[in-house]
Amino acid sequence: MKKNWILVPSVLLVAACATAPSPQDRLTVNDKKIDQVIAQMTLEEKVNMLHSKTNMSSAGVERLGIADMHYADGPFGIREEGVPNGFQSAGWTLDSATYFPTGSALAATWSKEMAYLYGTGMGKEARLRGKDVILGPAVNIQRLPVGGRTYEYLSEDPILSAALALEYTKGCQDEGTAVCIKHFAVNNQETNRGSVDAQLDERTLREIYLKPFERAIVEGGAMSVMPAYNKVNGDYCSENEHLLNEILRGEWGFKGFTVSDWGGTHSTMGAMLHGLNVQMTGSNYLGQPVIDSIATGALTEALVNEKVKQILRVRYAIEAVPDGVANTKMTSQPECQQIARQVAEKSIVLLKNEGVLPIAKEVKKIAVIGQNAVLKTQSGGMGAGVKALYEVTPLEGIRKRAGADVQVTYAPGYKNFPGRRWGPAPAVPNPLEAAAIDEPADPVLLEEAVALAKDADLVIFFGGTNKSIETEGSDRKDINLPVGQETVVTALREANPNLVSVLISGGPTDLRVLEPASPAIVQGWWNGTEGGTALAEVLFGDIAPSGKLPFTFPMKLEDSPAFALGNFPDPNAGGDLFTLMYRQDVLKMTPAERQAFLDSLPKPVSKYTEGSLVGYRWFDTRNVKPMYAFGHGLSYVDFEYGALKAAAKKDVVKVTFTLANKGGMAADEVVQLYVARPDATVEWPAKELKAFDRVTLAAGETKTVTLEIPVKDLRYWNVEKNAWDLEHGKLVLLVGAASDDIRQQAEVTI
Ligand code: BGC
Repeated sequence: MKKNWILVPSVLLVAACATAPSPQDRLTVNDKKIDQVIAQMTLEEKVNMLHSKTNMSSAGVERLGIADMHYADGPFGIREEGVPNGFQSAGWTLDSATYFPTGSALAATWSKEMAYLYGTGMGKEARLRGKDVILGPAVNIQRLPVGGRTYEYLSEDPILSAALALEYTKGCQDEGTAVCIKHFAVNNQETNRGSVDAQLDERTLREIYLKPFERAIVEGGAMSVMPAYNKVNGDYCSENEHLLNEILRGEWGFKGFTVSDWGGTHSTMGAMLHGLNVQMTGSNYLGQPVIDSIATGALTEALVNEKVKQILRVRYAIEAVPDGVANTKMTSQPECQQIARQVAEKSIVLLKNEGVLPIAKEVKKIAVIGQNAVLKTQSGGMGAGVKALYEVTPLEGIRKRAGADVQVTYAPGYKNFPGRRWGPAPAVPNPLEAAAIDEPADPVLLEEAVALAKDADLVIFFGGTNKSIETEGSDRKDINLPVGQETVVTALREANPNLVSVLISGGPTDLRVLEPASPAIVQGWWNGTEGGTALAEVLFGDIAPSGKLPFTFPMKLEDSPAFALGNFPDPNAGGDLFTLMYRQDVLKMTPAERQAFLDSLPKPVSKYTEGSLVGYRWFDTRNVKPMYAFGHGLSYVDFEYGALKAAAKKDVVKVTFTLANKGGMAADEVVQLYVARPDATVEWPAKELKAFDRVTLAAGETKTVTLEIPVKDLRYWNVEKNAWDLEHGKLVLLVGAASDDIRQQAEVTI
């Protein structure tokens, strides 16, 4: 099933010779054959390939032996099979998949190796389900702390996002499944995502928002791309000449095909002329109207042929799984569950530790408090939910690891906010569910939790959000801890000072109350099928924590760039489109009335005037102290960073240093190399991440570490020249354990 042409290790390819085809050019090996096949197709057969066949497939041509293209959500687990024309469950029994840690958790590993393995896991399970293309990875930059899809995306930093997007892509495609990298591009908010116009300058676009896509496409050979719902600088992404034709196909040499986000196609001419291949879903734009437009001469059949060719390149590169082979065994496979576990183990971030962790041998009674210890995180959040074969919750993981000697008690502590209610309220309210996200702490649950805490040697409080709060389709209103969690954690601390807080969420939360109340804090993520197992291993000290934050935890929301500059939310946006669509009065409108109502709303705009000062770039440059900085994450050991040896050659800047594990257990450290340019004439952030590595060290071991920055990665987008440009001069190389924990520095001149 594996495709030989993709299996050539990248190292060999680089070494081969200058004329070796690029990953994108390798898609063209069947072009002659494809042209012959297209010559045999009728116009109807060709156009039939340009739109959906079912909710998750687009047509081939059976007569010519061309199989349909089967797609599967999403980025962290092959989504449950839906009915042909919708997302409702098809009621299958073999479609339970491995639930991999979500995007921000993967990014917290800062591990290229893990991202590659993760991609292979997704690729393998896709094949078992007969899927050709997975709708992922999702690689947009986490611009807003409140972003509904922060948990799906990787990082606020383009270099980290790009490195992981690249490896995920390679891993998945090496298994013979195409990726559909999404959402191209600048889809950084869910508020009005279907109509918002993201307005940004070209330099910011290139250096920040396009980087992850660029690497996965150019170096990883990503075979398909999903244009996003939103507009960028005036044009919808699915018909954006600059993004799709000039940059993607023109500059990056993309040879595969594009698939609009579901419902994100907006016109026939726009989509046909400006770079879309497949309308998902429906055929109202890329079906009969294409045939009609050819009849009138507005479009040419040659253009249709070109689009079909781009689709067929992928169809020929990806072997269709025969019907009799697909879906004959359970989607979730043990080797993939192990990948999920390894990723989870490396993702957990120790934010704070005043000697409470790892859990001491003397601890014989643990009180676990908080519903986030028992709530499963596999489903919810819309498209990215997974029907997992199994999911180890934090409480299950802790109980199993604690064994018979240690008593583990549990109390829910607070009500869970289940999110927007679609139907009528239940006759008898669920006593463990809150009606509003900001409902105060429940006195009965609080009292029960405090009693358990008083009676325990150690309290582990599980707080954070859930997948109704952080979800596709809407952004959070704020990053406050919901449902009175602050009251609960404060009371627990008074009851028992031996307290650990574990945050189960995909994005950052406001910790101004929780932080001083908690001697130890762990960011535990939505960590997949084996999340609870991995968490217990870290809490009990079987392994040292080694995750690092892929985004900044602001002290308060208003400190973060888009909020500080008043760029978000847009006061003239007219309300969140998604929310409006479900408002009772809007639901009662006829389709025509609804359209007129939506058209009457002010057109939402998102201004990116913070430019490249996204995330830590802003906090560093403006000297705003975050709660926890980008790259932060503690261990159970100390690491000693030796002095740097740095050299700048023509193509590469190299830094070498020793890294010593001064502790008594094996541990990984993620070493980070930032660059500052004190004498630059071009404007730069105070510093930018340029390279990183995860280093594994045995107890007491010292290793020599080398980090390299290709000089091309030091270029900036010169707006006047409309090209990448290098500014020569002094570079300060800053090596450390976090963006706010620089241990060594050196200077070079390029
Ligand atoms: C999401 C995509 C997803 C698609 C299909 C859209 O709403 O934005 O990420 O792949 O639905 O489920």
